[in-house]
Amino acid sequence: MELKMMVGHAAAELVKDGNVVGLGTGSTTRFFIEKLAQRVKEENMEILGVPTSYQSLLLAKNQGIPITTLEENDIDIAVDGADEVDGNLNLIKGGGAAHTLEKIVDSAADRFVVVVDDSKIVEYLGKFPVPLEVIPEACRTVSNRVKDYGGLPSLRMAKMKDGPVITDNGNFVIDVHFERIENPADLEKELNNIPGVVENGIFAGLVDQVMVATSKGIKILRK
Ligand code: A5P
Repeated sequence: MELKMMVGHAAAELVKDGNVVGLGTGSTTRFFIEKLAQRVKEENMEILGVPTSYQSLLLAKNQGIPITTLEENDIDIAVDGADEVDGNLNLIKGGGAAHTLEKIVDSAADRFVVVVDDSKIVEYLGKFPVPLEVIPEACRTVSNRVKDYGGLPSLRMAKMKDGPVITDNGNFVIDVHFERIENPADLEKELNNIPGVVENGIFAGLVDQVMVATSKGIKILRK
């Protein structure tokens, strides 16, 4: 928690007065959003937030950050978490089932900054499963197709609700385990090509900067 807070707070310092800011989802960006809200109040900053989920929408509203949409504004900077970051700064996201809107918002930003602690850094992606947001009717056919790519699918089940997780967009999530992902950019395209897949959690080549919290301070990784 300490490391997530340290990096979330540090990322809030990157935002400038007047910026439109993509607000990521998860336990690390929670600290980013809270610190940003504090700066807005203390420094009278005028910013607008573009949420990546109901979680970040509700948190930002609750903290007093004014909200806008991609219809109305371009995004200067987006700050988001990740489940894995490889040596070329490719990501796996979607542990919180929010990767579809996250990819839309993060890829639309002039600058996309990722905040993680050092437990998320890996040589190759693949220890963490790749989440697929899937139209419910395609659950079985998508599960069969991912096996052609060496994936082991598993429908994500909800914790405080009977049955599967339902995303903010009303879809299912299939988590796909791969041994080791040698070419994330190709796999990202191939998975999105399966009919019924709305979006997958591989973010290849999107990141401008990764801020990694370590016990010795924050390390910056750039492309
Ligand atoms: C949400 O679906 C995810 O992409 C999160 O951004 C990711 O799981 C990182 O979350 P934490 O900061 O909670 O680890």
